[in-house]
Amino acid sequence: MTGSSRIHERSAVRCRPPNARSRRAATPYAGRVFSPQGPSLGELVVQGLSSVQRGYDLLAPKFDHTPFRTPDAVLDATAEALRPLGPFARGLDVCCGTGAGMRALAPVCRERVVGVDFSAGMLARARLAHPDATWVRADARALPFTSAFDLAVTFGALGHFLPAERPALFAGVYRALRPGGLLAFPLGAPPPIGSVPYWLMNGFDLVMRVRNAIWRPRFIMYYGTCRLSAIRGELAAAGFTVRTVPLEALGRRRDGTARCALVLARRP
Ligand SMILES: C[S@@+](CC[C@H](N)C(=O)[O-])C[C@H]1O[C@@H](n2cnc3c(N)ncnc32)[C@H](O)[C@@H]1O
Repeated sequence: MTGSSRIHERSAVRCRPPNARSRRAATPYAGRVFSPQGPSLGELVVQGLSSVQRGYDLLAPKFDHTPFRTPDAVLDATAEALRPLGPFARGLDVCCGTGAGMRALAPVCRERVVGVDFSAGMLARARLAHPDATWVRADARALPFTSAFDLAVTFGALGHFLPAERPALFAGVYRALRPGGLLAFPLGAPPPIGSVPYWLMNGFDLVMRVRNAIWRPRFIMYYGTCRLSAIRGELAAAGFTVRTVPLEALGRRRDGTARCALVLARRP
C-alpha cells in the first residue's frame, strides 16, 4: 500500500465532511426527513419499496435536499486530488444522479463531460442543472462506451451493486476508458467497530436485507459491502493498477486514519 497505509481496509460507501452529521441532527423539519425541501418519511418509504431505478425517479425532484447527494466538500477534495494528475480530456460520471459529480469532473476536464445513470428522473434534473454536459441513460452494469474517456468518476453509488455485479461494472468502466485512463472514486473509512455509526450502518444493511428477502422489486443498497480490500482485488482483476491517496481536506479520525481515501484505478 502507498499513501493508503493508514486507511482502513474495510470501507463504507460514502464520505462525509467532518461535522455534517451534527449539523443535520440539530435541525428539526416538520414532516420532512432531512430538510424543509427534502422528502417526507412517507415518500421515502414508497421510494424504498420500489426498485432502485423507480425509487430514484420518484426521489429525483428532492434528491439534492437529501444527504444521499454527495456533499460539495467531498467533490472539492476529489477535484483537488485529481488536479495534479490531469488535465484530462474527456470525463465520465458513472451513476451521475442529478449531476453532483460535475463539480469534481468539470474543473479537471478540458473537453466533453458525460454523465450516465439509469434513472430518467435523475437525468432530467442533471440536464436542467448542467445543460452543457452530455447525459446518457444506461445501466452501469452494461456501459455503452469504448475507449472514449480519459477520466471516470463515481460518487455514492457502489452500494447499489452486489459484489457479484461489480466485475461487470468495473469491466465496463475499463472498456470506456482509453489506455492510460483513470477511474477515481472516494471511499470512506469504515466506522470503528462498536461505534454508533458502526451499528447504524450494519442496522441499515440488515433492514435492507430483510426487506429484500420479503419484498419485490428489490432495492439494493448495502453500505457494508464496499470494502477497500475487496474492491482493490476486483479492480485488479478487471485489469486496473490500483492505489489510494488520503483525502486530507476531509480530515483524519482520532486514531490518525484518514476519514476518506480516493481510489485511483488506472487502465494501463
Ligand atoms: C446515491 S445516488 C448518487 C448520485 C450522484 N452520484 C451523487 O453522488 O450525488 C445513486 C445513483 O446511482 C444510480 N444507479 C444505481 N444503480 C445504477 C445502475 N445499475 N446503472 C445506472 N445508474 C445506477 C441511481 O439511479 C442514482 O442516481
